[in-house]
Amino acid sequence: MKHALIIGGSGMLTDCCVALAAQGYHLSVVARNEEKMNRLEKKIKPLGKMTKLLVDYTDNEKLRTSIQQTVEGHGPVTLVVSWIHSTAPEAPQTVMDEVSKSEVPFRYFHILGSSSDPIAIKESLSSQPQGHYRSIVLGFVREKDRSRWLTHPEISEGVMEAIEQDEPLYYVGVIEPWEERPGR
Ligand SMILES: NC(=O)c1ccc[n+]([C@@H]2O[C@H](COP(=O)([O-])OP(=O)(O)OC[C@H]3O[C@@H](n4cnc5c(N)ncnc54)[C@H](OP(=O)(O)O)[C@@H]3O)[C@@H](O)[C@H]2O)c1
Repeated sequence: MKHALIIGGSGMLTDCCVALAAQGYHLSVVARNEEKMNRLEKKIKPLGKMTKLLVDYTDNEKLRTSIQQTVEGHGPVTLVVSWIHSTAPEAPQTVMDEVSKSEVPFRYFHILGSSSDPIAIKESLSSQPQGHYRSIVLGFVREKDRSRWLTHPEISEGVMEAIEQDEPLYYVGVIEPWEERPGR
């Protein structure tokens, strides 16, 4: 079975979850708010199955246990899409470690904010040989006389494009020229 683990899937990655369900993935989604999760589940229902992992990812042990449980129930994770705030610095490695335990090849798409250093973050994570790590950096959109941040649908669409392209580093929107980013 194709099994995707989406960390933070009930917000800006909603459309990404829908697209992955349409591709036949079983989804395991990590988020805290049950109502938001139920709204996502309604969208997924006509397309496929979704397991709700209602866990705060700043709690490393709970995150670890919930990944173990979903792997036991639904098989090895073959795709990770991870949007984790900096409030949980240990969570990206925990996800990598738990998913690696199945010893089945998987791809790990790590979504990063515009001001992140993707190379430093990649180097700070240790990956097993079967884990193919990919960075996705969210940028902004330059328009004729202004720039703006990406919309949620643009972020989800860009993440799906990154999964399709399968490049080690993918930018959704642009980060240059940095001095033209919105709101400065
Ligand atoms: N460069 C850019 O363009 C850029 C970069 C970053 C963000 N943004 C924008 O900034 C906005 C805010 O970002 P956001 O992170 O709030 O986006 P979001 O994707 O709408 O929400 C975060 C997701 O992570 C989950 N989450 C958050 N904290 C969690 C925790 N401790 N444990 C488990 N799950 C957790 C949330 O669900 P629960 O709340 O239910 O836990 C939700 O599913 C977004 O709307 C996006 O458009 C833009």
